[in-house]
Amino acid sequence: MQQPSGIGITAIGAYAPPKVVTNADYEQHLETSAEWIESRTGIRERRYAADDEFTSDMGVRAVQDLLGRYPQALEGVDMVICATATPDASFPATATLIAAQIGLHGVGGFDLSAACSGFLYACAAAQGLVAAGINRRVLVIGAEVFTKIVDQTDRATAILFGDGAGAAVIEQVPQGYGFQGFVLGSDGAGAASLYAPCLAPKLPDGTVIDSRYTVMNGREVFKFAVRIIPESGQQVMDKSGLKVSDIDWFIPHQANIRIIESACERFRLPLERTIVNLDRYGNTSAATVPLALSEAVADGRIQDGQQLLMVAFGGGLSWAACTMKWYAGNGVQDL
Ligand code: COA
Repeated sequence: MQQPSGIGITAIGAYAPPKVVTNADYEQHLETSAEWIESRTGIRERRYAADDEFTSDMGVRAVQDLLGRYPQALEGVDMVICATATPDASFPATATLIAAQIGLHGVGGFDLSAACSGFLYACAAAQGLVAAGINRRVLVIGAEVFTKIVDQTDRATAILFGDGAGAAVIEQVPQGYGFQGFVLGSDGAGAASLYAPCLAPKLPDGTVIDSRYTVMNGREVFKFAVRIIPESGQQVMDKSGLKVSDIDWFIPHQANIRIIESACERFRLPLERTIVNLDRYGNTSAATVPLALSEAVADGRIQDGQQLLMVAFGGGLSWAACTMKWYAGNGVQDL
């Protein structure tokens, strides 16, 4: 019998609410055009949560999708981490609200705040918890209702974001599979480029916070993204002893197709080996990477043993890159 020696994802699921908002819908109330939005971002439509739906609802639905595909997946889960920038409440953690609704009573639970990089940060945290023997199976969720913290009258931000969630179970997997490396970074000096208010009236650099909604300097974030994706992606490949030619699938944060194309050019990686679904979901913040991963596993693009590179970036400014060999089995029970 093969001994388990890796740690990786053994189950994945995702959810996006049914309400579709197309680019043309914004033409009704914003000075914009469907053509402008698609040509500048690659986004055609995105999903909006209902007025009475919040991040815990997105997360529960993603876990239900995961359970539909991997019915045994929650057995033995002893920790839930929810990566989100839009928690239901300051406290309790959205992770605990989700855990209670999916029948996980008494397990550990906490939220992780790293904006759009949150899911990959949470995967790294989960790997550490399992490697240290603190937990056996960790349910990692990236869930957001970002449209609720965006000013729907601001054409520069409203068009970019959507709502949704992804969920993954992380545990031991056979040798040679699972996570190979992580690069996690942040630079709070860039906080003013992208933030959403909470309690403080100012950022530490003196920036006065006078909006209730997400504030973004699109050009600054764009420049940061086209620099940090190739930089952190290359770092994590070097750390893992991999070359671009080893990568079967690149799964980037889904913010803007021009950012993704620029990264592919820098890597000399064909767009055909990249998972892109931002045309249908827009930027769902911490949910983009698991949503894209979940879709590509479900439709058979990602196969057992394939080499993945995932890179995310966002508010913080923050970034996270990860290499992983996909394992299509069911974790330690399979061994
Ligand atoms: N419709 C029409 N015009 C718009 C618009 C919209 N929805 N949003 C902005 N504009 C205008 C701007 O006001 C600006 O007008 P001005 O030149 O008169 O000032 C003009 O379009 C060009 O703005 P610019 O910011 O240079 O456009 P861009 O090509 O950089 O595209 C973004 C704007 C926001 C799409 C792009 O900068 C971007 O994607 N940045 C990264 C944002 C991001 O990913 N955030 C989340 C990170 S996790």
